[in-house]
Amino acid sequence: MRAPVLAANWKMNHGPREAESFARDFLAGWHTVPSGVEVVVIPPFVDLAAAQAAFAGRPISIGGQNCHWESIGAFTGEISAEMLAASGCSYVLVAHSERRQYFGETEESARKRILAAHRAGLKAILCVGETLEQRDRGEMEKVLVSQLEGGFLGLGEGDVAGLVLAYEPVWAIGTGRNATPQQAQDAHAFLRGWLKGRFGPRYAEATRIQYGGSVKPENARELLGQPDIDGALVGGASLKAASFLKIVQAASRP
Ligand code: PGA
Repeated sequence: MRAPVLAANWKMNHGPREAESFARDFLAGWHTVPSGVEVVVIPPFVDLAAAQAAFAGRPISIGGQNCHWESIGAFTGEISAEMLAASGCSYVLVAHSERRQYFGETEESARKRILAAHRAGLKAILCVGETLEQRDRGEMEKVLVSQLEGGFLGLGEGDVAGLVLAYEPVWAIGTGRNATPQQAQDAHAFLRGWLKGRFGPRYAEATRIQYGGSVKPENARELLGQPDIDGALVGGASLKAASFLKIVQAASRP
């Protein structure tokens, strides 16, 4: 059985002080978190030290929002996967749609970041998803396949061990318009089928696929109740501890 993984992607929100107060509020409600659920907080880089200190000793994972593929060198403004690991991270987001849209992320750079994460001992959360125009043209599957084929080009099962996939339809991100549970389930089943063809049934069954895109306390339980939805990547509704806690609570499995 796959343990649900609930991740808070703060994007470019919250400084160290807000990270500390989030942690205080979130930990105050920790006793309500269902057992067997994994929680990941993915703050801006400048909050990593504060987040790590605030969550120290608690079973909460920390992640970076991006990493460079080289481990060290003259890449002003970049952070390596090794640096994230040394800062207490165990996860890193790869190719979030905002990185694809605004910062020129490609399948090739995503692939290099997946390899860098693996090299540094981090679990990559690879984000995939179609735009509204692509969905309306009936191209969802084609787009997902090209993102997966490009992102995993030449990679073996060992390179992607522990990787988490995040299905985030671009039209649902930050728009308040979530995919219906059935739309999300269909996409997740398709992704799992692709993983099965590429890496075999054991890998496909073990790999967690998160849904992301306007997940909130009101819709979390129904989304997370789908058989192929193994958690959520939450943006806006993860900024407040109380609302993220409610989403985490909704991940309890009967
Ligand atoms: P949202 O963002 O929950 O604000 O839609 C999700 C994401 O981009 O990861």
